[in-house]
Amino acid sequence: MLKPCPLSCFLFFFFFFVFFIPQISFSCPQDQRQSLLEFKNLVTHNINNYSITDFTDLETWKPNSDCCKWQHVGCDSNSPSREVIDLNLQSLADLASMNSSVLRPLLRISSLVTLDVSYNYLEGEIPGDAIVNLTRLISLDMSHNRLNGSIPPELFSLKTLQRLDLSENVIGGTLSGDIKELKNLQELSLGNNLIEGEIPPEIGSLVKLRVLILKRNKFNGSIPLSVTQLMELETFHLQRNSLSFEIPNGIGNLVNLSTLSLSKNKLSGGIPSSIQNLKNLQTLELEDNNGLVGEIPIWLFGLQKLKKLQLGGNKLQWNNNGSVFAQSKLKRLSLRSCGLEGNIPDWLKDQTSLYYLDLSMNRLEGSFPKWLANLKIETMILSDNRLSGSLPPSLFQSQSLTILELSRNNFSGQIPDTFGESTFLLLMLSKNNFSGSVPKSITKIYGLMVLDLSKNRLSGEFPRFDHNFSGLVPWLSYLDISSNEFSGDVPASFGVQIRMLLMSQNNFSGEFPQDFTNLSNLIRLDLHDNKISGKIPSFISRLSPSLEVFILRKNSLKGSIPEGISNLTSLKVLDLSENNLDGSLPSSLGNLTAMIESPKNSSTKYAFEIHDLVVNWKKSKQGLADRNLYLYTLLDLSNNKLLGEIPSSLGNLKSLKHLNLSNNDFSGLIPQSFGDIEELESLDLSHNNLTGEIPKMLSKLSELTTLDLSNNKLTGRIPESPQLDRLNDPNIYANNNGICGMQIQVPCSSTQTEPPEEEEEKDEEETMFSWKAAFIGCSCGFLTAVAYGIGYINLLSIYYFIKNI
Ligand SMILES: *[C@@H]1O[C@H](CO)[C@@H](O)[C@H](O)[C@H]1NC(C)=O
Ligand SMILES: *[C@@H]1O[C@H](CO)[C@@H](O)[C@H](O)[C@H]1NC(C)=O
Ligand SMILES: *[C@@H]1O[C@H](CO)[C@@H](O)[C@H](O)[C@H]1NC(C)=O
Ligand SMILES: *[C@@H]1O[C@H](CO)[C@@H](O)[C@H](O)[C@H]1NC(C)=O
Ligand SMILES: *[C@@H]1O[C@H](CO)[C@@H](O)[C@H](O)[C@H]1NC(C)=O
Ligand SMILES: *[C@@H]1O[C@H](CO)[C@@H](O)[C@H](O)[C@H]1NC(C)=O
Ligand SMILES: *[C@@H]1O[C@H](CO)[C@@H](O)[C@H](O)[C@H]1NC(C)=O
Ligand SMILES: *[C@@H]1O[C@H](CO)[C@@H](O)[C@H](O)[C@H]1NC(C)=O
Ligand SMILES: *[C@@H]1O[C@H](CO)[C@@H](O)[C@H](O)[C@H]1NC(C)=O
Ligand SMILES: *[C@@H]1O[C@H](CO)[C@@H](O)[C@H](O)[C@H]1NC(C)=O
Ligand SMILES: *[C@@H]1O[C@H](CO)[C@@H](O)[C@H](O)[C@H]1NC(C)=O
Ligand SMILES: *[C@@H]1O[C@H](CO)[C@@H](O)[C@H](O)[C@H]1NC(C)=O
Repeated sequence: MLKPCPLSCFLFFFFFFVFFIPQISFSCPQDQRQSLLEFKNLVTHNINNYSITDFTDLETWKPNSDCCKWQHVGCDSNSPSREVIDLNLQSLADLASMNSSVLRPLLRISSLVTLDVSYNYLEGEIPGDAIVNLTRLISLDMSHNRLNGSIPPELFSLKTLQRLDLSENVIGGTLSGDIKELKNLQELSLGNNLIEGEIPPEIGSLVKLRVLILKRNKFNGSIPLSVTQLMELETFHLQRNSLSFEIPNGIGNLVNLSTLSLSKNKLSGGIPSSIQNLKNLQTLELEDNNGLVGEIPIWLFGLQKLKKLQLGGNKLQWNNNGSVFAQSKLKRLSLRSCGLEGNIPDWLKDQTSLYYLDLSMNRLEGSFPKWLANLKIETMILSDNRLSGSLPPSLFQSQSLTILELSRNNFSGQIPDTFGESTFLLLMLSKNNFSGSVPKSITKIYGLMVLDLSKNRLSGEFPRFDHNFSGLVPWLSYLDISSNEFSGDVPASFGVQIRMLLMSQNNFSGEFPQDFTNLSNLIRLDLHDNKISGKIPSFISRLSPSLEVFILRKNSLKGSIPEGISNLTSLKVLDLSENNLDGSLPSSLGNLTAMIESPKNSSTKYAFEIHDLVVNWKKSKQGLADRNLYLYTLLDLSNNKLLGEIPSSLGNLKSLKHLNLSNNDFSGLIPQSFGDIEELESLDLSHNNLTGEIPKMLSKLSELTTLDLSNNKLTGRIPESPQLDRLNDPNIYANNNGICGMQIQVPCSSTQTEPPEEEEEKDEEETMFSWKAAFIGCSCGFLTAVAYGIGYINLLSIYYFIKNI
């Protein structure tokens, strides 16, 4: 039998049911639910819609339900009031930007302990004034947005903060693929960093901070001394900002520090000696500051917990001749450009955990050590040294090595047959002294994406790459075998992934192969300086519609240019010069869409260095840097036997910067329409049989800086315009049938046509202006916008490259 319930027991049940139960069914506080709903409402209505987002993530946020049960909301289960304490609102609005003021309702929930609004494309400033009431906040993540402005001072009133992440507020450089997957990548170089100003010294008042992540913004000034008060700090990321001055020596006070990342700033001075006190230090990244100087202290290798040491890209020097007894098992080591001499340091032999090694840009010499081939390294970068001898075959049998960059050394010998056993994703051996043929086994490497064998002495036929991996398509996307001694037919069978095929300066012969039409993703095809013969086939109209660069310069092609070439709607660089082409130009050339539209920034970015594209640019060979290639639009048909009239449709190609039709047999007039090629900077029509007058319309070409009309049969007056008046070298007009004009100081006789009266006046005005302008300064064309230096791009971001194919 049940015992009767005593009074206390009765009271218990009474209170339980009457008070307690209803209290549980009470959801989060009414005002907090209201704030959340307000947020939802703002978010769903405040989208600057450039991409659809349906916010399925906030579907559970319904007005009459318990907000503690909503997705992304966490309540305090220990307190009867069940206040909201956690909000994990990552990636609500992929690809749609939102005004940061949508956060305001959330910032009224003063019970918040964690707030994560990362990956939301939030725009505008951090709403500092609204943040002050979050007095219990421990973790604040506003990373991966587009927040701008500076850090609001109110943030420093949040004394409870243990974790603050404002990293990667960046605009531009939209990334394809799922942005969340890129989260762990350190090295992406697109877009503009946003949050700016100095890091306020008040940061030192957040004494509970354990994690402080401010990387990839635009912070400048110095690293505030007050950070040395953050005694609890364990993780400190400041890389990719514009910080200058020295690293505060007091950094050594932060005894719990395990990660210190200061790479890619403008820091100067030496490595502070106090860092040797950081016994917990696992990661020290000081790469690419350029201003860091001095000897690399040997005690660094005595830090027992150190796993990642990245010092490359500074003015640091390392005396590589002493013996090092490393106390640590390093995983990543970069001593790029640290002045290392002698052999590859052999203490690395014991670094069996190493998976990333960068010793590029030093003066290392000697041969490739066998023991190095046997370590389980995944990424090995030894480019730009003086290493020589042949490569150990075991290097190619490593089952861990995926990225191997040995360009610009003096390695020689053959590429071993073991090649096919490798696991390479990326292999770069450019500018060495390798010889012999390329082993056929190379085509068995299913994952190989990037292969650069350019500038060696490799010979023989290049293996056919069309291997089918039981239905899978090989990944090869980038192949550079230019400047070798390869012969035989032009290799054209590749997997459909191929985008860049650079095979110039070899001895390839035979006709232009039809197999190229299968490569539907091809962006660049460069075959200059080979021995390709026969006609340009009409099937070129079926080449990849994404083809942007097509170069057949200096081959033995004959026949006429096929009409169907206008099908190549992405073509921006077409170079068919130095062949034996004849016939007249198809007027369809004027339909090359990409030469009509203004340039768009490049579709694909490569995470590794791509060799400059070499073309004749303004009368000399120039290397065009890949990163700026989208700016160039070029049509070069010079040095052929093309004849007939120049089709006036060429004037449609409005975005053309460079047009070269010289050294052909063109006759007739220069088309009036050339005046419409607004962007034209260089026009070469020399050595033809052109007659008539120079069209007055050419005076519209305000960007023209290089002109050659010599060796034709032109007559009459040179049109006048500020730009044309600067082009006053007589050689531009030499060997014609009587050209006159003030530019070449040949007066026009009265029989030579005079422009109509009214225009004359205007011309004179312009002329006076132009003579002045010529002294004030030249119009420097867009070449000034082009940086030639090839920055070093961390190969790790090969991942980004993968995302793009
Ligand atoms: C946003 O979408 C609405 C309706 O779909 C449309 O009318 C408006 O033009 C769009 N705004 C922008 C900036 O694209
Ligand atoms: C964001 O919204 C606030 C308030 O609605 C407004 O004052 C501000 O101009 C907006 N900012 C931007 C960049 O749209
Ligand atoms: C902060 O809280 C106080 C008191 O609850 C309130 O008066 C004030 O409006 C709040 N400030 C903001 C910016 O929400
Ligand atoms: C922040 O960006 C917005 C546009 O999103 C702009 O209106 C505002 O001027 C910027 N603020 C600062 C400080 O750059
Ligand atoms: C930091 O950048 C701001 C502009 O964002 C500028 O006004 C300030 O002078 C810079 N400070 C230093 C120390 O370079
Ligand atoms: C360092 O971390 C340890 C263990 O997490 C902790 O006990 C200690 O208080 C920390 N030291 C300082 C100076 O904060
Ligand atoms: C090591 O290099 C230094 C100069 O950096 C030189 O003075 C010293 O003699 C060298 N030691 C050995 C053992 O070669
Ligand atoms: C490259 O190595 C060869 C021997 O393999 C040597 O004869 C040659 O001088 C070296 N070249 C350079 C530039 O060091
Ligand atoms: C390449 O190697 C050959 C020997 O195989 C050598 O004669 C030649 O000098 C080397 N070339 C360079 C540039 O070092
Ligand atoms: C141009 O391309 C289209 C589709 O890519 C194709 O159907 C057509 O036959 C091509 N034109 C010529 C002349 O080959
Ligand atoms: C060029 O394109 C226009 C419009 O697309 C078309 O009417 C014309 O026939 C084309 N010209 C040639 C020569 O292909
Ligand atoms: C140049 O053109 C004239 C007529 O315009 C013609 O008689 C002559 O043969 C042409 N010369 C060449 C080399 O084509």
